[in-house]
Amino acid sequence: MDRIRIVGGNPLNGTIPISGAKNAALPLMIAGLLTDEKLVLENVPRLADVSQLQRILGNHGIDITVNGKRRGDDAYAGQTLEIDARVIVDTTAPYELVSKMRASFWVIAPLLARMGEAKVSLPGGCAIGTRPVDFHLDALRALGAEIEIDAGYVLARAPKGLKGARIVFPKVSVGATHTALMAASLADGETIIENAAREPEIVDVADCINAMGGRVEGQGTSTIRVVGVPRLKGARHSVLPDRIETGTYAMAVAMTGGDVLLSGARADLLESALDTLREAGAEITVSNEGLRVKRNGAGISPVTVTTEPFPGFPTDLQAQLMALTTRARGTSRITETIFENRFMHVQELARLGARIHLDGETATIEGVERLKGAPVMATDLRASVSLVIGALAAEGESMIHRVYHLDRGFERLEEKLSACGAEIERLAG
Ligand code: EPU
Repeated sequence: MDRIRIVGGNPLNGTIPISGAKNAALPLMIAGLLTDEKLVLENVPRLADVSQLQRILGNHGIDITVNGKRRGDDAYAGQTLEIDARVIVDTTAPYELVSKMRASFWVIAPLLARMGEAKVSLPGGCAIGTRPVDFHLDALRALGAEIEIDAGYVLARAPKGLKGARIVFPKVSVGATHTALMAASLADGETIIENAAREPEIVDVADCINAMGGRVEGQGTSTIRVVGVPRLKGARHSVLPDRIETGTYAMAVAMTGGDVLLSGARADLLESALDTLREAGAEITVSNEGLRVKRNGAGISPVTVTTEPFPGFPTDLQAQLMALTTRARGTSRITETIFENRFMHVQELARLGARIHLDGETATIEGVERLKGAPVMATDLRASVSLVIGALAAEGESMIHRVYHLDRGFERLEEKLSACGAEIERLAG
């Protein structure tokens, strides 16, 4: 298993290109199942989760062609995927594949909508919480599907097709909103989705469905209206930039000090996190090229933050912010309201010398003057990158184990950081 070695203490200076968003690329690839024509996705990040989903879609008989780089392309340009779901040979998503990546459960909606049936393994537990799928199933039931759960599998059937309906989510869910949106796009009649997730990745998928000939309105608000169409056609769509990758590097710069341009980043996708970073003492300027983050001289100020669905502070940046606050001049408070167990990084940050007290869903972080390098263990994607942020500012060497978690969601992280002056390298095996 690869490890990452970091010697902390260097400021970051230079340019970091921001890749396409993992959490948009995955549902967009799944949306490729909605049509028998080609869906071409541009700016797809090179990530382990994307390759894993390619395998899962391949299992359904979907052809995916990857267009690599062309001469003259920027080294960090995203890849182009051509998804051809002309023939779906299998409507079962087996446990062995779904258990490796939760988002693959989302194939249930397009399979059901297009083929009238789907058999998809329940995704099971994961490191950040229990993460049930009840809202997904209730949404599909509302659209007329018969749902049965048997031997760890969800069997969904709609032999006469799905029918538009009113779906009211009891709590905001990104995944369940994707499910409702995709299923409704091929249902008969109008669907109103209330208390829908407003995340930019939902907007990206809705826009892509519209490019495929769908009729979706209200994406980005809590009420989405979908008028189903009998069939969707092929389209070309570019994945939006990754706001979590953007926020992560912004926090890394706030932590180490320096001056970095996050090229291709979009400020409107992470206003709340940028406000928090400004409060912590980072200087952020927005330009046509992206976002510029600076912190010179002054230390880090403590902050109080609660994670919330978009447009609130994202849970996917909670661990990174916690790493930053470990060196604040004072006491910070971070409350996690989305996932009940998303604090696996706390004890690992403590290994670097952080002082964090956990009480239920709130962490109290007493800033310390210095962190000290140590061996640490990555436990999930965002937790592992918080350790990178901690290690970049720690004195001496840190070794991060189990970096496959990082590869799920950060494209060439060590290259991007070392180009800006960080002492970071990947050690194979
Ligand atoms: N929930 C239910 N029932 C459901 C669905 C969700 O109770 O049927 C609960 C969850 O347990 C959680 C809350 O609702 O407490 C919100 O979960 P949501 O469904 O929004 O999460 P998700 O769709 O499974 C996506 C991202 C996560 C991100 C969350 C929240 C992708 C592929 N995943 O997950 O990203 O944390 O939304 O924004 O888009 C990551 O990238 O590291 C990651 C975990």
